[in-house]
Amino acid sequence: MNEPEKRTLRAAVIGCGAIAEFCHIPGYQNHPAVSEVILCDPVEKILQETQRKFRIKKGYTDYKELLKKEMPQLVSICTPNHLHAKMVCAAARKGIHVLCEKPMALSLAEAERIRKALAMKRVKFMVSFSHRFEMMNMRAKEMLASGKIGQPFMIRIRFGHEGPYPGWAKTDWFYKKDQAGYGALMDMGIHAIDLARYLLGDIRGVVARTATLLKPIRLDDNALMILEFETKALGYIDVSWTSKPGFNGSEIYGSGGTLIVDYERGLQFFDGEKADWKRIPVRGEPGSWERQMKHFVDCVLKEDDPDPGFLDGLASLKVALAAAKSAAGGKFIRIDTRARSS
Ligand SMILES: NC(=O)c1ccc[n+]([C@@H]2O[C@H](COP(=O)([O-])OP(=O)(O)OC[C@H]3O[C@@H](n4cnc5c(N)ncnc54)[C@H](O)[C@@H]3O)[C@@H](O)[C@H]2O)c1
Repeated sequence: MNEPEKRTLRAAVIGCGAIAEFCHIPGYQNHPAVSEVILCDPVEKILQETQRKFRIKKGYTDYKELLKKEMPQLVSICTPNHLHAKMVCAAARKGIHVLCEKPMALSLAEAERIRKALAMKRVKFMVSFSHRFEMMNMRAKEMLASGKIGQPFMIRIRFGHEGPYPGWAKTDWFYKKDQAGYGALMDMGIHAIDLARYLLGDIRGVVARTATLLKPIRLDDNALMILEFETKALGYIDVSWTSKPGFNGSEIYGSGGTLIVDYERGLQFFDGEKADWKRIPVRGEPGSWERQMKHFVDCVLKEDDPDPGFLDGLASLKVALAAAKSAAGGKFIRIDTRARSS
C-alpha cells in the first residue's frame, strides 16, 4: 500500500473572488500534500467571509505583506487581470511557485517581466487554462493524435454566457478597461485560443472583429476570431458575454471524421470509414478545476514543469493581443507562436 503523502506545502491564494472560491482554495485544501492555505484580499468583507467559509485562520489585506511574512511555497494569483504580472513577479522573485489566472499579463512587456522573474529563481509557473483539464478535451486530443479523424483542417470553438457580472464575479472589474484590459475577447477568447492551440497546434495568424452589442459597457461583449494554424488548418472562435444557454464547446473537422465536444451533451465522433456517429463515454470526475489544481501541486512535488506553462501563456497572449489589434482596424497580422523567447 502506498504511504499517504505528507502535508508539507503551504499555499497562498491572492484574490478571494469567485475563481478562488470555486477552484483554487478547494483545490489546495483537497490536495493531500497541502498543509495550510493563507488568503489575501483588500476587501475586508470578502476576506473574512472567505476565511469563515473555508475555515482558514490566516488572512491578509496586502499581498506583499503576506508573501514577506508567510513565505508560502505555492501561490495562486486570482486577482483582476491588470494585477497578474506584478504579483507573479513579486512571488517568483521570492522563489515561490506560481499558478496564475488567465491572462497571465496584458502586454508583451509585462510577459517579458514575468519571464525574467521566473528565470531568476527557477520557480514553477502555470497558467490557469482550465479547459485543457476538461476530460472531453483531453480525450479529443488523444483521438486527434491517434488519427481518428485524419487530417484536421477546421476547428470551431464557441464559449458564451450572460457575462461575468453580476452572477459570477464578486466585483465589476471585468467591465473596466483599466482593470480588465479587454472584454470578452481576452476573458473567454484567451481560453478558446489556448484550447485551439492545445488541440491543433501553433497558430500563425489571426483576424478579428469585436463589438459591444448588448451590455452598457465600453469593452467588447462579443468577439469573433479567424485563426490560421501552422499546419494551414483554419479555425474560428466566437465568444460572448451576452448569450443565453446554447452551444459551448468545439467542433473539429478532419479528412476522415468529425469530433464534437459539446459541454452540455458530451463528446461525439463521426467515423468517416464507418459513416457512423458514436457517443464517446468520458469519465468526468474530478472536474477540470480540481484536476488543474492537482496537476500544479503534483508538478511542484515532483519537480516537473507544469503544462500549460509560461510559453503557452505567452503564445495565447500574442494571439489575443494580435486579435485585439486586428479588431481595432488592422489587417491580417502575422505572428509566430512557436518562438521560445519573446
Ligand atoms: N480559469 C477560469 O476558468 C476563470 C474563470 C473566472 C475567472 N478567471 C480569472 O480569475 C481572475 C479573477 O476573476 P474572478 O472571477 O474571481 O473575479 P472576482 O471579482 O470574483 O474576484 C477578484 C478578487 O480580487 C480581489 N482583489 C482586487 N485587488 C486585489 C489586490 N490588490 N490584492 C488581492 N486581491 C485583490 C477583489 O477584491 C476580488 O475579491 C481573473 O483574472 C479572471 O480572468 C478565470
